[in-house]
Amino acid sequence: MSEELETAGPNGEQIEYWSGEAGDRWVAAREALDPALEPFGLAAMDAAGAGPGERAIDIGCGCGATTLELARRTGPMGSVLGIDVSTSMLRWASGRAAAAGRQNTVFVNADASTYRFEEKAADLAYSRFGVMFFANPVEAFANVRSGLRRGARLGFVCWRALERNVWVSLPRDIALRHVPPPEPRDPFAPGPFAFADPDRVGRILDDAGFSGIDVAAHDAAMRQSGSLDEAVGFLVRFGPASRLIAGADETVKRAVEDEVRRAVAGLHDGGGVELDAAMWIVTARA
Ligand SMILES: C[S@@+](CC[C@H](N)C(=O)[O-])C[C@H]1O[C@@H](n2cnc3c(N)ncnc32)[C@H](O)[C@@H]1O
Repeated sequence: MSEELETAGPNGEQIEYWSGEAGDRWVAAREALDPALEPFGLAAMDAAGAGPGERAIDIGCGCGATTLELARRTGPMGSVLGIDVSTSMLRWASGRAAAAGRQNTVFVNADASTYRFEEKAADLAYSRFGVMFFANPVEAFANVRSGLRRGARLGFVCWRALERNVWVSLPRDIALRHVPPPEPRDPFAPGPFAFADPDRVGRILDDAGFSGIDVAAHDAAMRQSGSLDEAVGFLVRFGPASRLIAGADETVKRAVEDEVRRAVAGLHDGGGVELDAAMWIVTARA
């Protein structure tokens, strides 16, 4: 696993972001993030299918939870390549795979949009929220396709519009009562909600050479397990609210946290808080 990635290319900003503060934050919060995201990732994995003996690619594999699940499903005769730009997340992922004795996993620190995959070798490319960060998504998906054999499957889960994802819109709206609104930004710029428009997702995959494209709505609850304080901590640490209050002083941060706590306190069921989440489960064939 190489340690340094080129940050001069079109994905440079995202590479720096995920290799730096964001990667560290994800590693630190993995025990909260993984169970919260697990059902969504499994829904996409079930839709894509992953069977014994298959070769899979996990795009933007992060801390490796889904890579290990793919490795379990593909079994000792199969293999999984986890690819990610974040050094800190990958370090965690490979440690986790070694601890679990998953010898059929390989992790590579590389940009999935330019990495030279073994040509036409994989049966499946999969991602849990790792494909919305490409500056040139058509080129990136065409590159992923180069590593897939003809007829191989693509399956991923990505977020629908922010407004439909109450787990981020609620803290974002509260933060906006305390800090100035951000500069308007291109809704298609790389970021968690860049794939909110299903027609755009379909066009990107079509232009990248995929066929049989299906973009299916998936509504679910985002469950943040633990105490009310833990749930509030999660809600203000991830998504747009965290970026809005990042530069604010401690009084403002505390005020936002208190308001989020009041807003969700009634939803805490003793074991956690559930808020609406909305995704696309996308499948296609190479
Ligand atoms: C929202 S996180 C999801 C991580 C992981 N799939 C999960 O569900 O826990 C997005 C991931 O995509 C990775 N990523 C962003 N741009 C990438 C690129 N061009 N190539 C490979 N990975 C990328 C990030 O480093 C990060 O790990």
